[in-house]
Amino acid sequence: MKGLILSGGKGTRLRPITYTRAKQLVPVANKPVLFRVVDTLVEAGITELAIVVGDTADEIKEAVGDGSRWQAQISYIHQEAPLGLAHAVKISRDFLQDDKFVMFLGDNVIEGGIVPLVQQFTSRDWNAQVVLTRVENPEQFGVAVLEEGRIVRLVEKPRQPPSNLALVGIYMFDPHIFEAVEAIQPSWRGELEITDAIQYLVENGYTVYPYVHEGWWIDTGKMEDMLDANRLVVEEMEPRNEGYVDSDSRLHGRVVIEEGAEIINSVIRGPAIIGEYSRIVNSYVGPFTSIYHHCEIVDSEVEHCIILEHCQILQIDHRIEDSLIGRHVEICRSPLKPRALKFMLGDYSKVGVLSNSR
Ligand code: TTP
Repeated sequence: MKGLILSGGKGTRLRPITYTRAKQLVPVANKPVLFRVVDTLVEAGITELAIVVGDTADEIKEAVGDGSRWQAQISYIHQEAPLGLAHAVKISRDFLQDDKFVMFLGDNVIEGGIVPLVQQFTSRDWNAQVVLTRVENPEQFGVAVLEEGRIVRLVEKPRQPPSNLALVGIYMFDPHIFEAVEAIQPSWRGELEITDAIQYLVENGYTVYPYVHEGWWIDTGKMEDMLDANRLVVEEMEPRNEGYVDSDSRLHGRVVIEEGAEIINSVIRGPAIIGEYSRIVNSYVGPFTSIYHHCEIVDSEVEHCIILEHCQILQIDHRIEDSLIGRHVEICRSPLKPRALKFMLGDYSKVGVLSNSR
């Protein structure tokens, strides 16, 4: 069994972060989402992997490498534009050949991994198996209709959902999927849709089975989803301290202090993770916060945030919450008069400012 990870795409919903970084490399609990995907596949015994890459190819190749870190072999397949998930399958034929494979979206995080479903699929002669999960808002997803335990129909974002079983972004196929991706036409949005390819399989007598995933699953497409994924993953961490915590500081609950980090006269209330060589001084770090490496938080309070590497947050009076802060960001008090808010923000940045009147 081989693995195909999709990490092309535009990442428009995560701008401005995705102007300068592939969204799959944004860390959740201080580990890039894409690394978590590779971990999940390798854990299921799949070590022959290819990553479909687009504009951010160089950055992804540099971060992930050839797979030796996972004792896996990772190759790269270049997609000229994000022309759809089925298009990504189509261009990966030379790599996949006649093997069964798992296709996994490079921005998804799933609780508990994929060991049981890989075991199930490899032990049957099904043509495809699609991971589904129950959702409260099926009208926003691709939804599957089941009959006698098989998938008989897929509907994209249905106004009147025929079920609450949404497609998660993890699929298993045998080589008949190539017949399907060759047969279908681009959708109204100009993409070769994987749902159309699966529908083709169903209509042409191939067997497509569901796997209903019971744990959580997050597609980290938007900032809120990133924060949700971070919240769920930090909750599962084992506390450890590989840095330095002075005697005036307090750690509560699940807190991970990575190597070289320093906590001085501060309170860290877990679950939270402080990355390598970051310094937290006279500050409060609240639950569900991940601070990546080489950051500095001084005389400030942060909670429910993802803060990327080399950030500085200095002497900020108000607590910073629910935020995703990119690399090398400085948030500090301005020494210059007049008393005013002063910004240098990239395109599509979002800032929430407290109003005095409320
Ligand atoms: P999406 O989140 O659907 O698309 P996107 O990454 O372009 O983001 P946005 O909608 O915010 O612009 O893609 C899901 C995953 O699949 C993501 O990891 C990118 C990848 N992908 C490809 O590799 N090739 C493709 O043609 C498409 C559509 C997505």
